[in-house]
Amino acid sequence: MTRNERANFGSKLGVILASAGSAVGLGNIWRFPFETGNHGGAAFILIYLVCVLILGIPIMIAEFLIGRRSRANTAGAYQKLAPGTHWRWVGRMGVLAGFLILGYYSVVAGWTLEFIGEAATNSFAGKSAAEFIASFNGFVSNPWYPVIWLVVFLLATHFIIIKGVEKGIEKSAKIMMPMLFILLVVLAICSVSLPGASAGIEFLLKPDFSKVDGNVFLGAMGQAFFSLSLGMGCLCTYASYFRNDTNLPKTALNVAGIDTLVAILAGFIIFPAAFSVGIQPDAGPSLLFITLPNVFQQAFGNIPWLAIALSIMFYVLLALAALTSTISLHEVVTAYLHEEFKFTRGKAAKLVTAGCIVLGVLCSLSLGVGKNYTIFGLNLFDLFDFVTAKIMLPLGGFFISIFTGWYLDKKIVWEEVSNNGTLNIHIYRLLIFILKYIAPIGIGLIFINELGFFK
Ligand code: TRP
Repeated sequence: MTRNERANFGSKLGVILASAGSAVGLGNIWRFPFETGNHGGAAFILIYLVCVLILGIPIMIAEFLIGRRSRANTAGAYQKLAPGTHWRWVGRMGVLAGFLILGYYSVVAGWTLEFIGEAATNSFAGKSAAEFIASFNGFVSNPWYPVIWLVVFLLATHFIIIKGVEKGIEKSAKIMMPMLFILLVVLAICSVSLPGASAGIEFLLKPDFSKVDGNVFLGAMGQAFFSLSLGMGCLCTYASYFRNDTNLPKTALNVAGIDTLVAILAGFIIFPAAFSVGIQPDAGPSLLFITLPNVFQQAFGNIPWLAIALSIMFYVLLALAALTSTISLHEVVTAYLHEEFKFTRGKAAKLVTAGCIVLGVLCSLSLGVGKNYTIFGLNLFDLFDFVTAKIMLPLGGFFISIFTGWYLDKKIVWEEVSNNGTLNIHIYRLLIFILKYIAPIGIGLIFINELGFFK
């Protein structure tokens, strides 16, 4: 794909859907519920919402403006806007974070393919909750199947990256995103009407602040960055393909709104169902894959064809939502290698795919045969998740807000945010205030708290 083709990132709707495609993914439907479950429910969600509002949206606007102004990959963007400075290390750290995330994300993305197969062969039928848990654990610790699926998933990502993102992704996103949304609503309705679902609804709506500690803040902040694809230059890279008349603040609001809605809907699917069948909300990464087949069985078990059809549809859409996210992660690293090291785009993409296959296989094996190899008590899969979501992304966000709030010429910021003064941006001063003070101080305090200085 040449730069000209990339600049095509078409219509306004295309821009929003491509960015929302990056944001909406396993982070919303898989990671958000299990982080919520680990951190006690409603209070975590409230803190998460605050993080999206005061960190997520402003930092997203900052990434957008850095990307569109420089029209370069994320490391090149800092090089252009701050030549000869160390700011390019922020971009480079982002590229590394993207590579690591893609490594373990593709493991879970691969799981969705297995579940499409299981749904299609009706193998959820008649299983008890305990059997779902056992078969899931057997599957993820198997040294072969998850590895094969993750390779398939990365090859699919690779194929689309080298084909060109706009036509395939933009077009399919226009059909897929509304379908995913409708299906989520249907499933949420089914889930909340299961017997015993009210305990799950209470878990989502009644905050228990006694459980809130530094970990909850760190978890909520990490989840906000992860879910919104922030802190590593992903949306910065996408914004380098935006048109000059794209309204950046409005796009950020739309993307954050869609992303949050999907996450909350996923919560309303997972928790009522989990409580209904007696699965603990803190079951961790397996939560989605254990409760959901159960929902299909319990809600539609009497009408087998419907159970099969809906479950296939759900996992297909989940896989596609994951695909639009892996594409955006892949694109960051590919664009970087292509533009900074002058590899052809195809060669750059091959290097990224090959590297991610290696990382992905290691992450997948770390859940089975390699589970005794731990670093800081975490297996490789959990370690990658922790280091990227809870350290690298917020750190990236910290530097992005300092860069935009303090370093970058405000004339540039104003020109980008208001499209050269053609848009009436009421929140401009607030935006600058947040990027200058609130975001860096907020992120800093959460980090310091986590290091234990306040205890
Ligand atoms: N936001 C995506 C999700 O929720 C994952 C993702 C895509 C991502 N690009 C990213 C996460 C960049 C962090 C940074 O599934």
